[in-house]
Amino acid sequence: MPTLSIIKADTGGFVGHCAVHPDMVEEATRRVEAARGDLLLDGKVATCGDDLALIMTHEHGPDAAAVHSFAWDVFHATTRIARDLGLYGAGQDLLSDAFSGNLRGMGPGYAELEFAERPSETVLCFLADKTEPGAWNLPLFRMFADPFTTAGLVIDAKMHAGFQFEVYDLYQEKRIVFDCPADMYDLLMYIGAPARYVLHSVTSKTSAEQAVATSTQRLSLIAGRYVGKDDPVMIVRCQSGLPAVGEALEPFALAYTVAGSMRGSHHAPLMPVAAAQAHPSRFDGPPRVVCLGFQISGGRLIGPRDMFDDPAFDRARAQANEVMDYLRRHGPFEPHRLGLDELEYTTMPALEDRLSDRWQPLPTAATPATTPAAAAERHAAAAGRR
Ligand code: 13P
Ligand code: 13P
Ligand code: MG
Ligand code: MG
Repeated sequence: MPTLSIIKADTGGFVGHCAVHPDMVEEATRRVEAARGDLLLDGKVATCGDDLALIMTHEHGPDAAAVHSFAWDVFHATTRIARDLGLYGAGQDLLSDAFSGNLRGMGPGYAELEFAERPSETVLCFLADKTEPGAWNLPLFRMFADPFTTAGLVIDAKMHAGFQFEVYDLYQEKRIVFDCPADMYDLLMYIGAPARYVLHSVTSKTSAEQAVATSTQRLSLIAGRYVGKDDPVMIVRCQSGLPAVGEALEPFALAYTVAGSMRGSHHAPLMPVAAAQAHPSRFDGPPRVVCLGFQISGGRLIGPRDMFDDPAFDRARAQANEVMDYLRRHGPFEPHRLGLDELEYTTMPALEDRLSDRWQPLPTAATPATTPAAAAERHAAAAGRR
């Protein structure tokens, strides 16, 4: 059975955190082409913002050492180019020097899905920049559980039974499976908090086919410090008992709000764009999502089609710009800025140290001015004056 793997990393930004330098794309493409027909059935290189993605089909299964170490080597090669060109944050996502078996906890993000290839295997690969893995929660719910988005949930007998949603708790490192539609409200209780609870996979209850795989790691939780947002990727299989392509794209017609943008520390709208527009410059935002569509045939990646290169998403883009203007005017105030518990790029601990001896306790209840007796006395005196 073939496996589709998207493995991605930020190995250096051009300029700042905007894009991947063409020399890095060229090097990655050269290596992927060389591996095709050997390690890989097929492979493509794509970018979204400053993140470089390897989209690969192969027969080694998920978490395969050979495939992960290949990606690791590619990212080290592009890091060397980034260093040579003095690009920003060269090797940003490579948290370790030594490769050990697979990429789990090493920095690069990945979504992998093993499947029996259908006669027509339609797949969408979503890549995002300046946001985090929980950004997929809302559109995945709408694709696979919301009948107002996906007509097939109502109309298609192969979808009517619903889907199973696997959710990761990234803080406590545990997982749970929700059965929809029955567990829909329980599911929403968790995935509505996307900083902590992240959808990892979705499976059809009718065919038992896995339809979705997402990248779910959060680098800051691994590294214990800010190291850039974990700009996520996602695979969505479509058609024939799964959402149609148009149903899977429909949720992105709303520029919904995600965490990310400048310093990974702000709420901002997610803008669906064509690949050529996936270079956030203003305030490192708005966060971008691109969607590359493929038909997979005998493991070959037929494509990509640039799915958001469609005027039907113009309104979402205009909405993203409008929401960005509105949020930006809040400057350093929440809810534009993330809550303190989520602030990632912060000098808060250093600031706290500097100010620690200037904080004074509030007056306590024992202070005369605030006792009930003193208040009653003031009240009586005021009444006497009237
Ligand atoms: P399938 O059920 O064959 O996927 O067709 C649905 C469709 O393509 C609607 O646009
Ligand atoms: P990236 O995660 O895309 O590198 O962005 C980091 C950042 O600080 C943006 O302001
Ligand atoms: Mg970067
Ligand atoms: Mg990035």
